Amino acid sequence: MGNILVTGALGQIGSELVPALRAHYGEGHVVASDIRLPRAGEVISEGPFEILDCTRMSAISEVMRRHDVTKIYHMAALLSAVAEEKPQAAWDLNMGGLYRVLEVARQNGAAVFLPSSIGAFGPTTPRDGTPQDTIQRPTTIYGVTKVASELLCDYYALRFGVDARGLRLPGLISHVAKPGGGTTDYAVDIFYRAIRYGRYTCFLSADTRLDMMYMPDAVCAMIEVMEADPARLRHRNAFNVAAMNFTPTELATEIKKHVPGFTIDYDVDPVRQAIADSWPRCMDDSAAREEWGWRPQWDMAAMTRDMLEKLGKRLKPAR
Ligand code: SER
Repeated sequence: MGNILVTGALGQIGSELVPALRAHYGEGHVVASDIRLPRAGEVISEGPFEILDCTRMSAISEVMRRHDVTKIYHMAALLSAVAEEKPQAAWDLNMGGLYRVLEVARQNGAAVFLPSSIGAFGPTTPRDGTPQDTIQRPTTIYGVTKVASELLCDYYALRFGVDARGLRLPGLISHVAKPGGGTTDYAVDIFYRAIRYGRYTCFLSADTRLDMMYMPDAVCAMIEVMEADPARLRHRNAFNVAAMNFTPTELATEIKKHVPGFTIDYDVDPVRQAIADSWPRCMDDSAAREEWGWRPQWDMAAMTRDMLEKLGKRLKPAR
């Protein structure tokens, strides 16, 4: 078999995707890459690693040839809140990176995985039971790049036969690496604060319901969709995948069951609130279930218990 390249491997998803791919396919078959070197202690420092700037086509090409890469998990991108602060940089990386990855994949006959997002929807999309095929008019630069990325993947599949597949991921919750500048980050930060300080000030309002997923489910979904029988895939790219949805109040109530006395208050950030208000509360993921057997394993209660247990081993209360 050929090898797998993961771009943006030191980010929130890559930090868990790379070890999972290595466990599944063998350590030597998975090349992690990022724009910087891993720091001491980062899990990724174990296997093959390359410094790679995804906006440089010749660099991607060179790494692919040297490692005999036949599948690319392209995770290098800016998240929604930071993209809104730097829209030009977000376009350059999110679109420029994907375009170059698809081009090199076309030239070398490689498959590509693209993480799209609930951010690919907008205020005119139905927010409950968001269908697989529906209105996509996002109002953030992050969303604009995600819709354009979905379309570019479809185009490369149709026009050049590149096996480009992807998922529309909800907010991802993980105890390994923190997200960097997303709108759903509160659902990770809240656990760190609960353990350290017993309280959390949330930047989204109490009743903001959003789709969320625990990282182990997300990683399984990313591996499964790339292994799915292509004959069964009607959509191929940009599958809605859902696992749980909750509001900050509901998550705080669940945390309180394990951290007695935990309190939450609210200091709403209007930028991130506006982004959240334009996203689905609950996607319909029946296409993923039917076409490649998607089944999430983690609900809010199980995720909360596991997050507190795992983080509790690393963090000490500051009180
Ligand atoms: N978690 C992402 C964000 O908040 C959404 O894809 O930007």
